[in-house]
Amino acid sequence: MKKMLLIFMLVIVSSVQAQPPGFNYDESKVPDYELPQVLRSLEGKRIKTVEWWQGKRRGEILELFREHVYGRVPLDVKAEIIPVIEEQSDEALGGIAIRRQVRLYLQEKGKEPYIDVLIYLPKLQLKRDGAVPIFTGLNFSGNHTVTSEKEVAVHEKWARNDSRLGHSNNQANEGSRGKSVERWQVKMLLKNGFGLATAYYGDIDPDFDDEFNNGVHTLFNSSRQLNGGDWGSIATWAWGLSRMMDYFETDGDIDHQRVALTGLSRLGKTSLWAGAEDQRFAIVISTDSGCGGAALSRRMFGETVKRINTAFPHWFCDNFNNYNDQEERIPVDQHMLIALLAPRPAYIASAEKDVWADPKGEFISGLEANSVYKLFGKQGTVVKHQPAVNVPVGDYIGYHIRSGDHDANEFDWQQYIKFARRHFNMK
Ligand code: GCU
Repeated sequence: MKKMLLIFMLVIVSSVQAQPPGFNYDESKVPDYELPQVLRSLEGKRIKTVEWWQGKRRGEILELFREHVYGRVPLDVKAEIIPVIEEQSDEALGGIAIRRQVRLYLQEKGKEPYIDVLIYLPKLQLKRDGAVPIFTGLNFSGNHTVTSEKEVAVHEKWARNDSRLGHSNNQANEGSRGKSVERWQVKMLLKNGFGLATAYYGDIDPDFDDEFNNGVHTLFNSSRQLNGGDWGSIATWAWGLSRMMDYFETDGDIDHQRVALTGLSRLGKTSLWAGAEDQRFAIVISTDSGCGGAALSRRMFGETVKRINTAFPHWFCDNFNNYNDQEERIPVDQHMLIALLAPRPAYIASAEKDVWADPKGEFISGLEANSVYKLFGKQGTVVKHQPAVNVPVGDYIGYHIRSGDHDANEFDWQQYIKFARRHFNMK
């Protein structure tokens, strides 16, 4: 009986988390909206060719997102990547992998800021092919949570207090080692011929509202106020991913033309923006990215622009506040973010119980980006209606809504791996 009660309470707690009160979860109450046209230029001209898209419209949309949503990387940000291998093993994970921990100093060797990148590479494929494709992405709680291997260092940066992980006093510790293994599926990746390169997002910018005085923000403009269109944390994390890509280009074991970028939730918003800003990422994937990610803002289903700007004032640029309760005025919507990924393969994943992130709005973004893929002669989502639960669809824009909660799990990874193997022509 006690057990029943506990299960009941857990169900209530998780559904409360998935549906904070005071927001709309009723499809019939989604307002009528008109999306900005992805294939019409600011002067009102219809974009009919790839050349026009590449040479004109793509840049316009990118600038609109920088100015109004994520913010722009300040011009005076300078980084010089100085990689130092901190640890390496040729016998990782029972002998199937090479493990490498590389510290990327961004300014000066031995000094902050730096990004610690944990890399696993499949040994057999590396020997056979000389370089291997990888998945990359930022993690929420530290590289040591992605694996149980005790050699992986516990970071000493700011950590969110989290009783599930045993993190308190804003410090990570041994207790959370391996706690995100399910979320990363390293062994599945290796078995399928992929490596993984991941870093803790707090290395780039600690996730709290601190007026940008820490993380990589120390690299620049300490003397000047941020402007309304300057970067927020999402753009900063995305910038960090690009610095990781700079490093991949110099690591001969990594096939840097076959890097699939992935991220969950706020880090899914980040992977989409990083993929838009940096076309070196060959495949871009977002899991449950929701508001400010793949979900259309104008639907105002679940999380809204005002809510996200209020609860996380540091994520977007200040100008994004101008659209609190005024979603219909944003000069872009999130389907245009997916369009910026074209013609590269993109994957949008939703979870059935993650209504806060508006799964339907995430699907429609993909659907509305199809026209840009079509310009390139490619098919996007292929289907016009959101598919049933656990039925993946799509050609160049993959989509699924899986059963279960807000998270990245085995099912998600199975689809991403299948998608990447197909697009990377892996036999
Ligand atoms: C909150 C936030 C979401 C975000 C999520 C996460 O739920 O409202 O926008 O995606 O946190 O990153 O975990």
